[in-house]
Amino acid sequence: MASGDLAPPINLNLNVRGLGHSATLAINERSKRLQSEGRHVYRLGLGQSPFPVPQPVVDELRANAHQKDYLDVAGLPILREAVSNYYVRQYAIGCTADEVLIGPGSKELMFLVQLVYYGELVIPTPSWVSYAPQAQIIGRNVRWVPTTAEHGWPLRPAELDAVCREDASRPRLVVLNYPSNPTGQTYDAEALQELAAVARRYRVILLSDEIYGELDHRGRHVSIASFYPEGTIISGGLSKWCGAGGWRLGTFTFPRALGWLREAMAAVASETYTSTSAPIQFAAVRAFQGGNELARYLVNARRILRALGAAFAERLRSAGVFVPGPQGAFYLFPDFSALGARLAERGVRTSTDLCERLLGDTGVALLPGTAFGRSPEELTARLAYVDFDGARALVAAEAVPLDQELDVAFLERYCGNTIRAADVMAEWIAA
Ligand SMILES: Cc1ncc(COP(=O)(O)O)c(C=O)c1O
Repeated sequence: MASGDLAPPINLNLNVRGLGHSATLAINERSKRLQSEGRHVYRLGLGQSPFPVPQPVVDELRANAHQKDYLDVAGLPILREAVSNYYVRQYAIGCTADEVLIGPGSKELMFLVQLVYYGELVIPTPSWVSYAPQAQIIGRNVRWVPTTAEHGWPLRPAELDAVCREDASRPRLVVLNYPSNPTGQTYDAEALQELAAVARRYRVILLSDEIYGELDHRGRHVSIASFYPEGTIISGGLSKWCGAGGWRLGTFTFPRALGWLREAMAAVASETYTSTSAPIQFAAVRAFQGGNELARYLVNARRILRALGAAFAERLRSAGVFVPGPQGAFYLFPDFSALGARLAERGVRTSTDLCERLLGDTGVALLPGTAFGRSPEELTARLAYVDFDGARALVAAEAVPLDQELDVAFLERYCGNTIRAADVMAEWIAA
C-alpha cells in the first residue's frame, strides 16, 4: 500500500471530524508565543486551581507509591466508602459505597454516562466547554437552553419545564453545574428545590456537576440530590477543591434506582481504562475523610477566592462591564455588550475578536464566550482569576484572623498578577 493511503482524513469517524483540541488550546498557544517573545502575560485562560494539593493528601500518595495492582473497576472499596461517608456527612445525602463509581477524572465519567444512556443531553448555556463535544463524539442530540446575564445566568425552572414539555416522554439527561464554570454563580436551596420539582415531574436524570461544590465562597454548597434523590447523579472529584486536576480522580454518586446505569458504565470502563490509578485512589481516601487540616485549607482557599473574585468584578464594573458578583469556583463571565459600540469602533465585533485584541494589546488571556455555547457576537468572555502562587497566598491567609476579610493590600501582595490584570483590562477599555 502506498504510504499516502495510510492516513487519509476521510477515514475519520464523522462524529470527530472538525473537532479541535478543546477551546483553550488556541489562546494558550498564543499566550506561550507571546511569553517566548518576552511579553508579560496574565494567564486567566486556564481553569486550574492555584492551590497545592493539601499536605496530608500528598503524604498519603507518597506512602502508597508502591500500590501496583489493578483495582476494582468501580473503584477501591475503602475509597467508595470514604466518598459515600463524605456525601452523608457534608450534604446529608443518603448514599452507600455501592452507589459510588470512581473514574480517571469526572470528565471521563461524563463521557461514559453519555455513551451508555440513550437520551437527549440538555445543557444550559453558558456552560463548561466539554459537555457538548462529548455528546457530538458519541452522536447524541444536544438541546441548548440559553440563560441570561441578569441575576447571574441561572437556569429557570420555567425554561427547564418548557424544554421537557416539548416531548414529555423523551429520555433526557439534564446537566446542572454549580458553582458554575464559566460564570462563578451558584444556586441557593430554594432555586434548587424548584428545579428539582421540574426534574421530578418529567422524570429526567439530573447530572449535577458539583466539582466546585467545596469552593462555594461561603462554604454553603447544597446538593440538588437533597431534593431529587431518586434521579440525581452527583459528579465530583479531586480536581478543583483539592487542587489535583493532574491526578485524574473523579467520582459519580448514583441513586439506588439508577444502579443499571452505574453497572453499564462500569462494564464499558472495564473494557477501556480498566481501573483508576491505584496510588491516587489510596491517597484520595485521605482527601474524602476530611478533618481539621483539610477544613482549614478550604476555609482559607475560599477566603482568598471570595476576596479576589469580588475585587476583580468590582474593578471591571467600574470600567462599565456587566459582571455578577462571584459566588463560587474561580471564574467570572463578564459581559462587555454595554461597551459594544465603542469596541466596534476598534474593530471588536465578536467575543473571539475581544479576546484576541485583549491578549495582543495587554497580555491578558481570557477565553471567548463562544467556547461556552454563546453566540459569536455576544461580547462575553470567561476569566479564571488564578494567576498567583496559591501555596504562598494560603500561608499568608492563615495569619489573618478568620473574622477578617482579606483586604486589597493582601490581594496586591499575594495575588498581584491577577489583580493587576483587572486594572490592565479597565485601562484598555478606557483607552
Ligand atoms: C465544570 C467542570 N466539570 C468537570 C470538569 C472535569 O474535571 P475532572 O475531569 O478533572 O474531574 C471540569 C474541569 O475543568 C469543569 O470545569
